[in-house]
Amino acid sequence: MAHDSRPLLGVQRIRKVFGGLVAVDNVSFDVHPGVILGLIGPNGAGKTTLFNVITGLYAATSGAAMLEGRPLLGLTQDTIACLGVARTFQNLQIFPSMSVLDNVLTGSHRHGYSGLVPTVLRLPSVRAEERRLRAQAREALEFVGLADRAAVPAASLPPGQQRLVEIARALAGQPRLLLLDEPAAGLTTRETEVLGELIQRIADTGLTTVVIEHDMSLVMEVCATVAVLDQGKLLAVDTPTAIQANPQVIAAYLGEEGQA
Ligand SMILES: Nc1ncnc2c1ncn2[C@@H]1O[C@H](COP(=O)(O)OP(=O)(O)O)[C@@H](O)[C@H]1O
Ligand SMILES: [Mg+2]
Repeated sequence: MAHDSRPLLGVQRIRKVFGGLVAVDNVSFDVHPGVILGLIGPNGAGKTTLFNVITGLYAATSGAAMLEGRPLLGLTQDTIACLGVARTFQNLQIFPSMSVLDNVLTGSHRHGYSGLVPTVLRLPSVRAEERRLRAQAREALEFVGLADRAAVPAASLPPGQQRLVEIARALAGQPRLLLLDEPAAGLTTRETEVLGELIQRIADTGLTTVVIEHDMSLVMEVCATVAVLDQGKLLAVDTPTAIQANPQVIAAYLGEEGQA
């Protein structure tokens, strides 16, 4: 695919070594604005590690990640989030006893600018900001279809809906780049369909997204581009159709029937 635009995310020769294990091995690819890129590969391929490096959870051994040309690596997780990179986790990271709305609110705070003094004094500007953040969080909940569940404890929702809460939390911060780590993991067929529709609607808003996913029909349906990792190495970046026909990819991944 030809792109005139500057990539929103540039992954440049990222390498991550754990002791003797090369988890991510000089991986480079670009994610262009508005694109949904699927990141696939067998378990242990290095997909989550790549997200962990891009979001500042792990320090890279070498390489660079550029958000609209600005280097991310070396910045803290908070700073990277403030620059507009939001993610979800492979294992749900939900506060079970907190309400659904409060869970989502924890994602809105990158837009909270008040310092400590106005917060302590509860100045009107702070209250206005709180209202704005709550409105954003409600909007995100509405977007994922959970507006009517805002007040219930997150733990009372089925796993499929808890995933949606996590996605709403990522969206509430109004990110420029969304990273979804196996959002369909543990979902029922019906829940996966709902998720696919949601990712499609996210795409329709123009939000650039990278989605790690094992559910191939979901990947093929929603992703314009697919990148394949295998044992830390990038095997291919191509259209879903070309990826499905790529012999290397078939050997490494698609051919492994039942690989989860
Ligand atoms: N914190 C860590 N410490 C040591 N090894 C790790 C760590 N995180 C991931 N790994 C290893 O790196 C490799 C890639 O893991 P991961 O990125 O989780 O793969 P994927 O998400 O593609 O299944 C695996 O061999 C895994 O065991
Ligand atoms: Mg993973």
